[in-house]
Amino acid sequence: MSSLFRSTVKLFLAAVFLPSMQVALHAQAVQATPNGVRVTGNNLTIELNALRDDVLRVREWQGAKIPEDSSWAVLPHSRASRVPVTATARGFRTKSLEVSIDEAMRITVRDSDGKVLQQQAEPVRYDDTNFRLYMKMTDDEHFFGLGDKPGPLDRRGMSFADWNTDIGYSESTDPIYKSIPFFYSWRSGHVLGVLFDNTWRASFDFGKEREHEYSFGSVNGPIDYYLMYGPDPKQVAGEYAWLTGTTPMPPKWTLGYQQSRFSYFPESRVMEIAKRLRDDKFPADGIDLDIDYQQNHRPFTVDRKQFPSFEQMIQQLKDEHIHVVAITDLHIAKLPDAGYKPYDEGEAQNRFVKMPDGKDFVGWVWPGDTVFPDYTVADTRAWWGTLYTDFVKDGIDGFWNDMNEPSVFNVANKTMPDDAQHAIRGDEDLGFKDRVTNHLEIHNVLGMLQTEGTYEGLRKLRPNERPFVLTRASYAGGQRYAATWTGDNSSTWNHLRLTTPMLENLGLSGFAMAGADVGGFRGSPQMDLLTKWFEIGAFQTIDRDHTTDTSRPQEPWEGGSAHEAIRRKYVETRYELMPYFYTTVKSMSQTGVPVVRPLFMEFPEDATDGHPIDLDAPAEFLFGPDLLVAPPEFPEETDDYAVVFPKGIWYDYWTGVRIDKQNPASKDVTITPTLEILPVYARGGSVIPEQPLVQSTDEKPNGPLTLRVYPDAANACSGALYDDDGKSYAFEHDGYLKMEATCTATAGGLTIHLSAHRGQFPAWWHEVQFEIYGLPKRPAAQFAGHNVTVEHAPTCDAWRVTVPDNGTGAEIQLTTGS
Ligand code: NOJ
Repeated sequence: MSSLFRSTVKLFLAAVFLPSMQVALHAQAVQATPNGVRVTGNNLTIELNALRDDVLRVREWQGAKIPEDSSWAVLPHSRASRVPVTATARGFRTKSLEVSIDEAMRITVRDSDGKVLQQQAEPVRYDDTNFRLYMKMTDDEHFFGLGDKPGPLDRRGMSFADWNTDIGYSESTDPIYKSIPFFYSWRSGHVLGVLFDNTWRASFDFGKEREHEYSFGSVNGPIDYYLMYGPDPKQVAGEYAWLTGTTPMPPKWTLGYQQSRFSYFPESRVMEIAKRLRDDKFPADGIDLDIDYQQNHRPFTVDRKQFPSFEQMIQQLKDEHIHVVAITDLHIAKLPDAGYKPYDEGEAQNRFVKMPDGKDFVGWVWPGDTVFPDYTVADTRAWWGTLYTDFVKDGIDGFWNDMNEPSVFNVANKTMPDDAQHAIRGDEDLGFKDRVTNHLEIHNVLGMLQTEGTYEGLRKLRPNERPFVLTRASYAGGQRYAATWTGDNSSTWNHLRLTTPMLENLGLSGFAMAGADVGGFRGSPQMDLLTKWFEIGAFQTIDRDHTTDTSRPQEPWEGGSAHEAIRRKYVETRYELMPYFYTTVKSMSQTGVPVVRPLFMEFPEDATDGHPIDLDAPAEFLFGPDLLVAPPEFPEETDDYAVVFPKGIWYDYWTGVRIDKQNPASKDVTITPTLEILPVYARGGSVIPEQPLVQSTDEKPNGPLTLRVYPDAANACSGALYDDDGKSYAFEHDGYLKMEATCTATAGGLTIHLSAHRGQFPAWWHEVQFEIYGLPKRPAAQFAGHNVTVEHAPTCDAWRVTVPDNGTGAEIQLTTGS
């Protein structure tokens, strides 16, 4: 370590007077450290460290006492990571960033070209324990993330609070269920991610309070935030995943269609729903059991009157390839001396949240009087995990952790009292010291910690099976344990419109495994609305039809066979796209880039003035890297509208028609909305793998793998395929299959190259059917030195060539002539 880094540079400044600040500054100490800088002055210390060249951590505190260095969100090895920096007079440089702290204790962060990425407008403002950081906001700055807070994709001009709340919401309701204090600042395509790691009631303001500033702050707790630099948004998504963890590879069945309602009972009704799905050939992978399968809504019980042969029912459903997801809320019924194991054990082991007088906090939720495990304690999380033992033995495959804001009925604050006590146990990795705190610090993380208990418990109970946990509440990092949904939406067109920005922002905030209740939860949808919802829902990562207890039936067949046929077609498309979808999910689990993503993620430099192109197309989104879903801005709209295309060539997914937006002569694509069609486009330059239709993801597809080949303007293309058993962790060794397909232009047409298979997971196909789009006329095709037949695809404008695939790779020459 160089002596320069070790040396302490102390600058003693005389008190200065800054006209803009109207504050007197006192002596300051600037200390260069090996990985950053520490500046002390004005009763404030700022410590900045480089965790990587593109990831910084900022901590600030008042007085001499250094705050606890801990986090529920950030992975210990990332929090401990450091890279060397080059000291500057009042800051440092890394390979990608330059930081300085001025005499007024304001931080400025620039990229290596000197472009300002974040600049404090004034030093941190304190008011007792409250604090707030104001940053300058440029005219071209936009903000994304913060989880599924309702409203438009861009958060600019709005303010938000983080306080997990069980609430029926509208477009302007805030806060709702989750707190994910992570956002992207976008300045002309230069993206900086900001994770404000503070679990107390926090708030964010993006130019609403002050026209040219944005700010974030909290009522208490640490000033502790991380900056992640792109400039590419995907890079930021990756850095956030590096900090807080990726989404684990989910079981494949969770990517299928799930049928739910509050609640299906008795068990004959569950079986009836399953039978109807299969009889109607409506592909499905799961049925969810909401609270009424339980005895008096008590978690981990079964109402034997309604479900006399619960265990057999689960097995019968399994035989039909329908997986059961059972709800287990976070609370435990307060039921002394009644032989209710979760309560008896929890009480005996002192597991429940206490009030200051030492008694259990008792709230009123679905079971009546309830107590709440204190999930802040690792042992209690581990104990909670053991409660799943019987259900796992019974064959239940998924668990749904609801009400975990935590929600408490009949109290004004809808949750636990502020002074409920949580024990924090000393933990070297997480950085916590042994202490007791009140609910205000833990409220926003309790739901996430519950899902950690569930997930880790399931990992122990079924070590070689991937768990599926669905949660309503969470905090930054919760994607490590659970998928999520957007809670109690409403059966209105407006809520259907809201699902896209909510899911996009959730994905940007690390929660890529996410869906919105298809058809809406509150109220009953008109049949056209339900149909449109099925169409859009088929392109969400989780596709689950769910509704409340008082609504009319909302299953796919409601409204008659014409509606059902349309809904079926979209769900079938989802299943046909499973190889592409699963490949995208695999990459999401490695890179943190979500499946449902805004256009700007793939095309950050698309608009000439640098704004994110999604602002011109608020309802459009990408399903994976290559499929553009383009409903009208308002899904009920019947007026014509023009699709906004990112640069390049696009192909109508349904008809195969080629759209060349680079060609100045090309006309706008104007859509006249119809009930049957959701416009979807494939990106020129992509190869999209598809499979023959199946009724569930457990079923082995029968027939060739289809590779839809969409050449770009230069006749190039590329695509990948990933597959594995969809269940186990064998993929961590060699239990996977990977292959790529590319095309390159030749003098007479193009050559398609199929790579050899890698990994030991066997392909389900023996043949590959190439479906080539955008060729003006029938090409001639050669494979292994022989001519092969070229057929026209039956329903769209494409040419088909089918060749054997024995896993060693293949090459097909297409001659298109002039
Ligand atoms: C609230 C959840 O948001 C909803 O999806 C569920 O149906 C009810 N709780 C009943 O469990």
